[in-house]
Amino acid sequence: VDGVTPLSSALTAGDWRPLPPEATELLTAETVPPRLAAHLRVVHDVACQLVEWLPVRVDAEAVLFGAATHDFGKVLHVEELSGPGHEHEEAGYRLLTSAGVEERLARFARTHASWATTPVDLEDLLVSVADKVWKAKRVQDLEEMVVARLAGDRPTWEVFMELDDELTRIAAGADERLAFQSAYPVS
Ligand SMILES: [Fe+2]
Repeated sequence: VDGVTPLSSALTAGDWRPLPPEATELLTAETVPPRLAAHLRVVHDVACQLVEWLPVRVDAEAVLFGAATHDFGKVLHVEELSGPGHEHEEAGYRLLTSAGVEERLARFARTHASWATTPVDLEDLLVSVADKVWKAKRVQDLEEMVVARLAGDRPTWEVFMELDDELTRIAAGADERLAFQSAYPVS
């Protein structure tokens, strides 16, 4: 078959929603580990579900682009695909901005792991949540920060329960996402 590679498969296979075209373009231009592309597909799909559920208005384009590219720096730090490390964050931000991506869309490469230490917007928190709940990981501090942004005049507990229901629903798809992602090689 003409031109089917593990990378192109990771970018198109499965029921996960397609990445924004500009993100797909960036991922095709670099030597991207197929595992990374598959990871970005599933986190982006979760971010789409979160944005559709969200009871308030956000910069959805930024959230979805951010989810689709948050780990882009792992093209330079492949070891961080299978192990811990934060080198990919600044590296990803620099790669994206030097490719002409504007700050509003590139920032998630930096912010997706720094929500506990740096003031960030709701959009950044949503990408961070998507990057956890795709594998059914729940982070209470992070979820409480999201609830605080969503609550407005409503009782916090009520909003917390609604978010919890949605995250529980999304988390139920974790096995399928994990199987898809791990089917693709790291290099
Ligand atoms: Fe990630």
